[in-house]
Amino acid sequence: MVAPQHSRSGSETVPYDAAPYDSAREDIPVTDDLVVPNRTDTDPAGRGSAPKLTRDAIGEILRAGKHLLVQGAMGLHVSDGLAGKVAAAKSARFVTAGTVSGVGKTPELLRRELRRARAEAPGGYVGVNLMAAINHLDFERLARTALVEGVSFIVQGAGISREVIRWCHDAGTPFAGIVSSGRLAAMYEKWGADFLVAEGAEAGGHIGDIELPLASLVEDVRSHSSLPVVAAGGIDASDVAAYLAQGVAGVQLSTRFIACRDGDAHPAFKTMHLGKGADDVVVITSCVKGMKARAVRNAFTDALAAGDHFPPRSKAWFFGKDGYGGRTKACIECLGTGLCKCRASDFHESFCITDALLRAAILGDTVRGLFYTGQSVTRIPEGTVQELKTVQELVLELDRLLEDGSHRTHALSAASASP
Ligand SMILES: Cc1cc2nc3c(=O)[nH]c(=O)nc-3n(C[C@H](O)[C@H](O)[C@H](O)COP(=O)(O)O)c2cc1C
Repeated sequence: MVAPQHSRSGSETVPYDAAPYDSAREDIPVTDDLVVPNRTDTDPAGRGSAPKLTRDAIGEILRAGKHLLVQGAMGLHVSDGLAGKVAAAKSARFVTAGTVSGVGKTPELLRRELRRARAEAPGGYVGVNLMAAINHLDFERLARTALVEGVSFIVQGAGISREVIRWCHDAGTPFAGIVSSGRLAAMYEKWGADFLVAEGAEAGGHIGDIELPLASLVEDVRSHSSLPVVAAGGIDASDVAAYLAQGVAGVQLSTRFIACRDGDAHPAFKTMHLGKGADDVVVITSCVKGMKARAVRNAFTDALAAGDHFPPRSKAWFFGKDGYGGRTKACIECLGTGLCKCRASDFHESFCITDALLRAAILGDTVRGLFYTGQSVTRIPEGTVQELKTVQELVLELDRLLEDGSHRTHALSAASASP
């Protein structure tokens, strides 16, 4: 069954139509302290504490002969609906973990998405991705919400905050850093991270180092840190065995999960990921600090390449009359001061990222939306949305390919070991 999609009526829009739990029953307030209530289990409404993905827990997974399979978070609602399905997926070779994106959500939306994921995957690993590059007030509110909800881990993407690591330690929640260099990996280890996500140049969305392919990054990170490393960026089902052979604790896939039948992304977002060739993928300059970012080529990215700019427009259609965190102007100041090229230029350069990403994920606007993607998009075959695999089917395919891949690896090592 195709997951319920976001339906729209008039100018009033509710971001999630298929609320999986009754918000009227919500009784866990977001408090300002970081003491996590002593909840060790998940109730049917998804409330409670998820197991913690600590460094020790990862060690146990590896000793049991398995690896981690993490679904990477995709901001502004692209990965909504996936975390619980990935965390609940059965696998012979992997322990799976889902990541909910906190970026662009209100605390209430984050809490709802987290509880939904945990209700779908009781006892499964469900983490939250946050970016310190966002407005600090939002960052702190979202981090506190995630900690009070008892997530399995917090993983930090674009921007670096040392504070969030302290908050995690105070709450007994593992912290993971996304890194694009061995130097950053060493820094996160010193600061007390539990594990690292090494994200190579092939990744989707904002890219840390556009020159450093994942295989080289993994080597660099492993030589600078003893923390468990999850490899991310451009990984397709058939690559998993090769990265595991590099000694990583697991792999993270994001783009490949977009093309699953049971995620919430708009059907047009999924269709934009089918049957694409090398010419359909572009690297743009984002309004976030001028970072490079990978996207599916469309009229919008062509317009950006031609130098057009797109000042912010009202987002009341999505956030309602109270706006985002009480901010109702067209520019909701989603990014930290000085990090938004659009606002810094008084809206005369660049584009409003929230407008562009929401138009893609929620409205499926293939003309004015920005469709972030990873390099592995070129390996997702042509097809229709109805024909896409479910998350569980994809995980089973990974299992099967890994079985073949490990046989190949063993055959290779046997060959190289023979005289
Ligand atoms: C549509 C899209 C949105 C993303 N949003 C975020 C984000 O908000 N925060 C983040 O840390 N990474 C984000 N990423 C990066 C992914 O989580 C992932 O690490 C990266 O894309 C590598 O995996 P992939 O090549 O399998 O997509 C995004 C990627 C995509 C494709």
